[in-house]
This record gives sequence, C-alpha cells and structure tokens, in this order.
Amino acid sequence: MLKKQAASHIAPLAGLEEEEVFKLLEVPPQQEMGDIAFPCFVLAKSLKKAPVAIATEIASALQSDILEAVPAGPYVNIRFKREKLATELLKELGQSGFGKLEEGNAARVVIDMSSPNIAKPFGVGHLRSTVIGAALYRLYNEAGYTAVSVNHLGDWGTQFGKQIAAYKRWGNDAALQAEPIRTSLELYVRFHDEAEHDPSLEIEARDWFRKLEQGDEEAKQLWAFFVEVSMKEFDRMYERLNVQFDHTLGESFYNDKMGAVVDELRAKGLLEESDGALVVRLEEENMPPCLIIKKDGTTIYPTRDLATAIYRHDVMKADKMLYVVGGEQKLHFNQVFAVLSRMGHDWSANCEHIPFGLMRFEGRKMSTRRGKVVFLQEVLDEAVSRAMQIIQEKNPNLPNPQEVAEAVGVGAIVFGDLSNNRLNDIDFSLEDAVSFEGETGPYVQYAYARIKSVLAKAREVAEVEKGLEEELTTIDRENNSTKQKVTTSEPTWALLKLLAHYPEYLSKAVQRNEPSVIAKYAIDVAQAFNRFYHAERIADAPLEERAFRLTLTERTAERLAHSLNLLGVKAPERM
Ligand code: ARG
Repeated sequence: MLKKQAASHIAPLAGLEEEEVFKLLEVPPQQEMGDIAFPCFVLAKSLKKAPVAIATEIASALQSDILEAVPAGPYVNIRFKREKLATELLKELGQSGFGKLEEGNAARVVIDMSSPNIAKPFGVGHLRSTVIGAALYRLYNEAGYTAVSVNHLGDWGTQFGKQIAAYKRWGNDAALQAEPIRTSLELYVRFHDEAEHDPSLEIEARDWFRKLEQGDEEAKQLWAFFVEVSMKEFDRMYERLNVQFDHTLGESFYNDKMGAVVDELRAKGLLEESDGALVVRLEEENMPPCLIIKKDGTTIYPTRDLATAIYRHDVMKADKMLYVVGGEQKLHFNQVFAVLSRMGHDWSANCEHIPFGLMRFEGRKMSTRRGKVVFLQEVLDEAVSRAMQIIQEKNPNLPNPQEVAEAVGVGAIVFGDLSNNRLNDIDFSLEDAVSFEGETGPYVQYAYARIKSVLAKAREVAEVEKGLEEELTTIDRENNSTKQKVTTSEPTWALLKLLAHYPEYLSKAVQRNEPSVIAKYAIDVAQAFNRFYHAERIADAPLEERAFRLTLTERTAERLAHSLNLLGVKAPERM
C-alpha cells in the first residue's frame, strides 16, 4: 500500500508506468532516511540528465497531503505523513484477504516434494524437501496460484529385489510390522555385508526384481507389504509435520507409462546405443548422456521422471513444475529437462529444480548404507523433550504442556530449516534451534504468545473500564473519529509499516522459491513488536490512544500466526 501510494505519485513525474515505478522502489535500511526511496538512475538516459539533478526535480515537484519528498543524491526519499496514513493502513491490514495476491492467475503449479524411498529411512534430505515443499505449496496458493503437491515415492528399482531376497532369507514379520524402516534397513545392511562374500545373493536379488517387473504374484505381494509398512511410518511423520499431499504417486505408478516414452524417443530418433544400453546424447547441452534403458533391459530413474513430467503436463495440466530435491540431483534434472526439450516439449522450460543444501545434526550426517543414521523421529523427539524442559522452567502452570512442547519442538526444527536460505548447508544444533532467544521458531512463537497475553490483559482492563471493547470494534469504522488519538512514535510506525509491506515479502518469497523470506519476515515482525512493546503502553495506555495500539497489536498477532502457519509452524496461544 505504501509502495503503491508512492508509485502513483511518482509515475507521472518520472514519465513511467506505475508498475515500473513500483518495481524500482526500495525500502531504505533506516527509517530516518525515509519510508520509501526512488532511485533515479534509470531515467538518466531518457531524460539526458544526471540522476542527482533528476532526483532534485522530482522531489521538489512531489509534495502532497500524505507525503513529502527530499532528494538524497540520486534518490528521492519519501516520507509519509504518519498521522494521516496510520489509521488507513491499520484498516487495510484488518481487511479479510489482506496479503493474498493474484499474481499467479490460478496457474497450476505441481510441486514434487518429500518423495522418500520405501524401505529406507526418511532422510534429512527428505525432511528438507517436505518442509520446503509444504511451505512453497502454501506460499504459491497464497499468491494466487493453484498449487498441487505430489509425493513421488521411491517405490521402484532394483533395491526391491535386494529387499525381497534379504527378507526371504532372514525376514521377520513381527519386527517389520513393529519397526518397518529400522527392520528394512537392517535387512538392507545385512544384504550388503553378506553379499560381499556370497555372490549368490546378488543373483537372487536380480531374479526377484525381474519377477517383480514381470508381475509375479509373490514378488508383488511382498513389495506391496514393504510399501504399506513404510508408508505407515512416513505418515506418522507427516502428521507431526502437519503435511498433506494432493497426490501420492510413486515411481511404480509410471511403470506402464514408460513404454510410450521410449517409443516416442525412438520415433524422434533420439535413442542411441551405448555399451548395450540406450541413451539420449546431450553433447550440445554439455551434459553426459541420459540413460534410458539399462543393459539388462530395465528402465531407470530418469526414464521414470520423463514419464512423470509428461503425465504431470498432460493429465494434471501443470503450467509449472517444481522439483524440491537436494542439490546433488542437479545433473539428473537438467538431463531430464533437456531430453524433454529435445522431444519437442516446449513446456520443459516451465520445469524447475528447486535444490537445497545439506543438513547435519550436531555434525552428524545421515547415511543409509552403513546403517549409521540419525532417525528423524529421534530428532523430533529430542527437540520436543528439550522444549518441554524449557516450558517447565518458564511456565510450570501451563495447562497443556505436552501439546505446546510438540508445537515448539517440531516448530523449532521446521523453522530452523526454513529460516536459512535454502541453498545453504545447515549444521543444525538442537540447543540453538529450540532456544527462545535468537532468530528461532520458538522466539517468534513466544512473541506471539506474549502478544496474546497482552490482548487478554487488555480485555480484562476493558471489562473494568467498560466501553473500550466498543472502542476497539469501532476503530475501524470511525478511524477519523476525533475521540481517538493516533500517535506514531518511531517504533509504532516501524511496526505498522512492516505489517503493511507483507505482500511484497510474499511476492519475493514466491519469485525466489524461498520460504526463508517469510521466516525472516516473521522474526523482523517479532522484533519490531518487542521494540513497540518496550516503548509504548498498550493495555494500560490512555483510553484515547488505546484502541489504536491494541488494534495494531491485534494485527501483529494475526500476521505472526499467519506467517508461522505458512511455514508449517503452529502458533500456540500460551507457552
Ligand atoms: N526418491 C528420490 C530420492 O530419495 C527423490 C525423488 C525426487 N523426485 C523426482 N521426481 N525424481 O532420492
């Protein structure tokens, strides 16, 4: 809203469209410099003048009842007349649908996320994919797209041959039911250990996978059993992380769709033989060839991703496809997109790999092969028990400590992930993440709970003084009422502006596929509120100022809860 106001004033003076001006506007790092700055560099060419001279001219022409402008070098710094705008801004913040954007024009964005592998532990990469993917899903919807989430389970491949072979030799149903992933993993590790001196195991595994591909009943049943028990365990995790999928379609779903892809590749003359395998060469793209059919005639990961992308385009009607998968698969996706483009699917330009960095827990990495893994379940449990400790110290009388500890502990992990730029590697320290101080999830949650208690207290005070409730509800209607005084100290104005700028943060987060923009925003809002809280009386402010401050407080609470929820973090009312 502030940027829009500034843009509409500047556009006619700069001879640019409002939208162009809007994009150029900046928010100065310090409030003393002004509320909005317009850089004049772009005008130098067309006006044949130095940016500094242009800034001076625009600034002197640009005065209105709601703003004043001063030149600062090549910039025009704009300062709004606070008292004039404050109530209007506050009113806008209270409108339903504030912050929703229509940028997406309802375009369908299919988001490939989470996508763990059956019979293997849910790795940290899958955690990041789940958490980042779920945040992007909500952000895109919020920005006016129609997001569709797909869990592309790794439920196919030669490893299932190994899994079945190992199960046939050493399997134990009860153990598998009780602890599916751990038991599957033990089988897998044992398979690899014993296969080192018993080559017959590898042969058995290959046989089982061939049987599986050919639809052998026993093989299919065993496979389905592994999928089922693994899913149960994954679902528990999804529940804790509060993540749902629009579709769960594993790689196996594309088994009967790959033939057509291979035929199409062949018909378009793209398939070439290489050492008995079939590949698509990608020399022009400066990439190694993309393997389509292995020497033994079986299809492979990239083949399945080709069929998947075509399905998402043709059947799911995707306008855009995002693949939230670790950075180590960059080449794979570039190859898949390049092959799609070679096939003449222009829409491959709308496919994007959204990579992210590695995450370690207290320096420990995850590796499925050797069986030395950190289980996500354990990490979450540990975070929750630490949160519980802190809560018991700070607020021993909390009525539902377990529920709050779950929200804080899990929220700390999710927020800790999302507050980093997604490409960064993260060394996760549980102690830091769960701390109520610093740039953490619990810090933001705590700020929210505090605001809620301020509001509760205000209601109590109001009960006594009567009439305030009424004032509170009428402030929006009567925002120019003479009874109400609006004072905008530096911290008040800074908080109000930050809340009003929210749509721009949302837009940036979506453009960059970067939930950290919203995580950082939530921290900024919490900090801005704390400054306001220390500077101003709120619940016990003089009556004529109270309604404005309380409404601002109310709007802050809404924005914080909303931002946390967008990230998939709960906002308990008390903690
Ligand atoms: N299951 C794969 C893995 O864990 C990730 C799948 C990502 N999605 C895709 N369409 N390839 O490595």
